[in-house]
Amino acid sequence: MRCFKAGHAQIALAALVATANVASAALYNDASQLPTLKYDFIVIGAGAAGNVIATRLTENSKFSVLVIEAGISDQGVLGVEVPFLAPSNLPNSSVTWNYSTTPQAALNDRVLAYSRGRVLGGSSSINFLTYTRGSNDEYNRWATLTGDQNWSWNKLSPYYFKSSRLVPPVDGHSTAGLVIPADHGNGPIQVSLPGMPSELDGRVVSTSKASGSQFPFNEDIQSGNSVGVGIAQSTIGGGVRSSSSTAYLEPVLNRPNLDVLIDNTVTRLVQSGTTGRTPIFKQVEFAPSASATRTIVTANNEVILSAGSIGTPQILMLSGIGNPSDLTALGIKSVVNLPDVGQHLQDHPIMSNYFLVNSTNTFDDVLRDPSILNADLAQWQNNNTGLFGNAPANAVAFLRIPSNASIFTTVQDPTAGSGSAHFEMIWADGFAANVIAQPATGHYVTINTAVVSPTSTGSVRLASADPFAFPLIDPGFFSTAFDQFAMLSAVKAARAFMSADAWKGFVISRFGPVGDAESDDDIIAAARDAIITIWHPTSTARMSPKNASWGVVDSQLLVKGVSGLRIVDASVIPIIPSAHTVAPVYILAERAADIIKAAW
Ligand SMILES: Cc1cc2nc3c(=O)[nH]c(=O)nc-3n(C[C@H](O)[C@H](O)[C@H](O)COP(=O)(O)OP(=O)(O)OC[C@H]3O[C@@H](n4cnc5c(N)ncnc54)[C@H](O)[C@@H]3O)c2cc1C
Ligand SMILES: *[C@@H]1O[C@H](CO)[C@@H](O)[C@H](O)[C@H]1NC(C)=O
Ligand SMILES: *[C@@H]1O[C@H](CO)[C@@H](O)[C@H](O)[C@H]1NC(C)=O
Ligand SMILES: *[C@@H]1O[C@H](CO)[C@@H](O)[C@H](O)[C@H]1NC(C)=O
Ligand SMILES: *[C@@H]1O[C@H](CO)[C@@H](O)[C@H](O)[C@H]1NC(C)=O
Ligand SMILES: *[C@@H]1O[C@H](CO)[C@@H](O)[C@H](O)[C@H]1NC(C)=O
Ligand SMILES: *[C@@H]1O[C@H](CO)[C@@H](O)[C@H](O)[C@H]1NC(C)=O
Ligand SMILES: *[C@@H]1O[C@H](CO)[C@@H](O)[C@H](O)[C@H]1NC(C)=O
Repeated sequence: MRCFKAGHAQIALAALVATANVASAALYNDASQLPTLKYDFIVIGAGAAGNVIATRLTENSKFSVLVIEAGISDQGVLGVEVPFLAPSNLPNSSVTWNYSTTPQAALNDRVLAYSRGRVLGGSSSINFLTYTRGSNDEYNRWATLTGDQNWSWNKLSPYYFKSSRLVPPVDGHSTAGLVIPADHGNGPIQVSLPGMPSELDGRVVSTSKASGSQFPFNEDIQSGNSVGVGIAQSTIGGGVRSSSSTAYLEPVLNRPNLDVLIDNTVTRLVQSGTTGRTPIFKQVEFAPSASATRTIVTANNEVILSAGSIGTPQILMLSGIGNPSDLTALGIKSVVNLPDVGQHLQDHPIMSNYFLVNSTNTFDDVLRDPSILNADLAQWQNNNTGLFGNAPANAVAFLRIPSNASIFTTVQDPTAGSGSAHFEMIWADGFAANVIAQPATGHYVTINTAVVSPTSTGSVRLASADPFAFPLIDPGFFSTAFDQFAMLSAVKAARAFMSADAWKGFVISRFGPVGDAESDDDIIAAARDAIITIWHPTSTARMSPKNASWGVVDSQLLVKGVSGLRIVDASVIPIIPSAHTVAPVYILAERAADIIKAAW
């Protein structure tokens, strides 16, 4: 489910995403336009978390807030607004950080594209829209690891309900039995089931229901138990992407106590003094480009770092906060010894399993024929309906490896509990091209399989002291026996699922190198050439108890050994959840906003 590499269609898509960077009076794009260089709070990064913080803090009219974002406005960017076109922003576009990984040893030394959102809304503006809260076990583990019960499922529930709400699919069809409205809240992010149901949906649900406990049906994975099969819930309202920009920031841009500066990259935090022996970091340096003059802004109260799992550790290290020997080696003066900065990067490896199918309804022809693509786009532009109002994914399954599996004789179960999955399957009704391009003929169904409780870990390190140089990103994909076993289990589950009665006469054969692999060893070997990222990096500035020897922030999200600096984004999550990460980020950001309001 990534870059659609499909000849003419690709060219058509490239034209579609040409940016219309509509000017907006409420946004600034040059430091000289800022009315002041002093704010109560400075938020770095207008991403999923940063926009929640800016929106909630400015509810209090006595707080002034500046948000600094490296990227452009999301206004009028079709690849951002149209759910189905999400993959067209990748790997490199005007709305992305064009990162790539270091060579991945367990993936035959392949270098993977590792895009992040660089636009208002951050990665919530370019993600593939799948909405998954995560299990109750997941959050209870955060509480245990941080020693702070306020991070437990029960204590976080009000913040989940405050962050999102269920809305009807754009075509208004009944979703009875496919979602539980009571498991949803009343917050700004809109969540819906597909607005144009696919030919897969009924087959997925009936296969699940007929399988009993093998592929259990889960009417709503937001209920606390994440395990099971269901129709995908996506951050879409009325056929349009709902991001932290559209749902949180844009409606409040007219608040007089909020300024948003786009097109400017934070280059480092500046030490503004000391309190006792503790350095204070309440100043932020930024510039529109490497060669431009840098500007410094000052926070009266706090700086909130929300630059994401890659940007946040990069900025900390550029500011002298990290592993002293690594920083000194690059000529950066070490100020705070925090060796965990940039460590423990985790992400979910994912790959595509293709099935040739007996159908002409898949989206394959849309990607091959510009006239079909343009008709679908015209329909979306008319009333936001049709294929383009849907996310690329139709259905999802979160499943566990049986507890008597051989792997558990040597490896401890890495999940937070029985409501959390080891692996995921994501259905798309067409050929979701990534490592291999869409074939010129045929119709396909893709099941993307992902390991959602990986034990591999990696790191984000600086490549140079230049803030405009990309950091070295090493997710360490597929480097453990557990991750390999879990991916193998996922492939076998996908094959078993698609062999069920509901698919007879529909599925013709497996397809591609992964599909051709038969033995366990062959499947793992094929996976090494097929795995990419699902773009869920977390944990590069982990939360831990205040007095712990590990971690970067305490359970109040304050950076250890520093005054005036908090981190609110996916980097503080202690262990990657068995879930897509945007919902957990919204939840933690909502709670963080209350922590900050209470502190001031
Ligand atoms: C392609 C893709 C697909 C995804 N699919 C899904 C999905 O389907 N479902 C799901 O739940 N999650 C998905 N995710 C993950 C999800 O979007 C992220 O977990 C979430 O957005 C992280 O929020 P964040 O606030 O930590 O960071 P981000 O949302 O990435 O925000 C960070 C912001 O900080 C800005 N920034 C960084 N450095 C600087 C700097 N030096 N100066 C100024 N600004 C800076 C960035 O430009 C960005 O706007 C996907 C992500 C990607 C990239
Ligand atoms: C990413 O690549 C696109 C397309 O080449 C380019 O427009 C954009 O400026 C690049 N972004 C960064 C941060 O390098
Ligand atoms: C994306 O940009 C990165 C960094 O600028 C570059 O290394 C990579 O080759 C680009 N990828 C594509 C497909 O253009
Ligand atoms: C937990 O939150 C409550 C308010 O909801 C607060 O009174 C209490 O101090 C918090 N506990 C910790 C450890 O932060
Ligand atoms: C949306 O427009 C399409 C034509 O572009 C039309 O076929 C469809 O009925 C419309 N749907 C609604 C709900 O108006
Ligand atoms: C695990 O248990 C199930 C049924 O309880 C059995 O069918 C299966 O063969 C067992 N698997 C292993 C690896 O022992
Ligand atoms: C394709 O489906 C049709 C019915 O829709 C059926 O007659 C035909 O046998 C199927 N073909 C294959 C190869 O399964
Ligand atoms: C941290 O403090 C808690 C409670 O105050 C204590 O139980 C724990 O042993 C301490 N841990 C360390 C690493 O000092």
